[in-house]
Amino acid sequence: MSRTKTDTDENLLFIVEIVSHSSFPDYQLRLTQSSLCDATVKQRSGFLDISPSRSLFFWFFESRNDPGNAPLMLWLNGGPGCSSIASGLLFEHGPCFIADEGNSTIRNSHSWNEVVNIIYLDSPIGTGFSHSTDGSKVDTLADVAVDVYAFMQVFLNHFSEYSAAPFHIAGESWGGHYVPTVANYIFQRNKELIYAPRRGILKINLSSVILANGLTEPATQFDSIPHYACDPVAAPYPPLSPDRLQCRQLNISRPTCVRMIEACYKYQTKLVCNAATDFCWPSMMTVAPMVNKNPYDLRRSCDEDATVCYIELDWVTKYMNDPQVKKSLGAHEEQVFQTCNMDVNKGFYYQGQAMHNSAALLPELVNNGVRLLAYAGDTDMVCNFIGIERWMERLEHNFHKEFASSRSQLWTMKSGRAVGEFRSAGAGHKHAGNVTFVKIWDGGHMAPHDQPEAALDMITKWVKDSTFSGH
Ligand SMILES: *[C@@H]1O[C@H](CO)[C@@H](O)[C@H](O)[C@H]1NC(C)=O
Ligand SMILES: *[C@@H]1O[C@H](CO)[C@@H](O)[C@H](O)[C@H]1NC(C)=O
Ligand SMILES: *[C@@H]1O[C@H](CO)[C@@H](O)[C@H](O)[C@H]1NC(C)=O
Ligand SMILES: *[C@@H]1O[C@H](CO)[C@@H](O)[C@H](O)[C@H]1NC(C)=O
Repeated sequence: MSRTKTDTDENLLFIVEIVSHSSFPDYQLRLTQSSLCDATVKQRSGFLDISPSRSLFFWFFESRNDPGNAPLMLWLNGGPGCSSIASGLLFEHGPCFIADEGNSTIRNSHSWNEVVNIIYLDSPIGTGFSHSTDGSKVDTLADVAVDVYAFMQVFLNHFSEYSAAPFHIAGESWGGHYVPTVANYIFQRNKELIYAPRRGILKINLSSVILANGLTEPATQFDSIPHYACDPVAAPYPPLSPDRLQCRQLNISRPTCVRMIEACYKYQTKLVCNAATDFCWPSMMTVAPMVNKNPYDLRRSCDEDATVCYIELDWVTKYMNDPQVKKSLGAHEEQVFQTCNMDVNKGFYYQGQAMHNSAALLPELVNNGVRLLAYAGDTDMVCNFIGIERWMERLEHNFHKEFASSRSQLWTMKSGRAVGEFRSAGAGHKHAGNVTFVKIWDGGHMAPHDQPEAALDMITKWVKDSTFSGH
């Protein structure tokens, strides 16, 4: 069932369409088709209603090249509570970047939609334009998975032209928790469908999981902080010299923090997990601000005027709250866009979700043909590359031995320029690998913002499954 209404403005053309789905009676899509950001490709944006009172907002772009055969990617920013439109789309790798203090956007020639059809989804409820009207909220990883799965089902049922394409799910920062949870949930539902097919429910063609400077296995990642912050050889921009008092303090806090996170892994209760968060965050995560550095990128100082170190993210808030922009994207006039919603953020921390071991959800996927890429910009202190590479080394699955004994190799672009390093298992000489770690040189927490050309090269090689070493 679908109702279409065309609404033309002086300079913005968009179509409003309302769609419901027989398998999910409570779900509905309200779509518009705008020409903002990238007028050269087909795009859709709007809401998926998950109930009469809860809606998720997304902005989708077809690939600039051969969209009929391009893979499909879902992108999720973290926070929790930070908008994928604000950061991923308008600041990192979308078809356009925010510009002119938020008055306009400029084309990004290294957009990931050069190679993929891409959905930027504001999840969970409360993030970006995604909202509830009855006060209900999502504050656990498990509930994120349920909502994102439902979104994908409705999306792929409606836009069935993308349902056979390989599906890649990517997330940054807290996305390192979301993505394994969502991907594993998709995997389990796919498995059930083999024995109990349900009309209208699709098998989602889960092809790979991509973790971008993610928080995924906190014990190993927090354990690495003193090493990253203090060892002048291990990290490219250590903020502290090893003899600093803070380094000794980090070293003293480290074993307690790790034990508390391991207790969270074991008992998985809010009480135990919250205790780990309450101890580890203040004792291990406050180094960069103390030395007046941007924790997301140690090459820079934090922009004091900005909400989260980058003034561009405040420009996004201005842009997305423009009445014309809201109208053409299908958002309600009275809705207020926040780049990061701190209430959502606090909810997840309060529920003890931060210290979960989301890496434990990955081996089952890896052993069943889902490829795994974790990448890390090397100047990020929040989710540093040492911790990410280490949990990748420790993770037990069918490729574990090969990955653990793999050596770091130079990653070069077509031009011959080396832009980082990679390690992989299952790659042979031709492939990107089944389990791969990539380090992006001179990139921060939002590495594609800092190294757009390298990031596009990486994502192209990954989805085309071609080697990082050749050019
Ligand atoms: C953005 O628009 C505002 C209001 O129209 C204007 O004052 C400001 O100068 C503009 N900024 C830029 C960089 O164009
Ligand atoms: C899923 O994607 C793969 C490529 O990764 C393709 O070969 C296959 O046909 C797709 N499967 C379905 C059920 O569409
Ligand atoms: C911190 O611990 C590491 C390894 O345990 C050690 O090499 C380093 O010297 C210690 N640093 C300080 C300042 O205590
Ligand atoms: C490893 O990845 C390749 C694609 O390069 C895929 O064909 C294969 O099934 C994967 N192997 C396993 C064991 O999952």
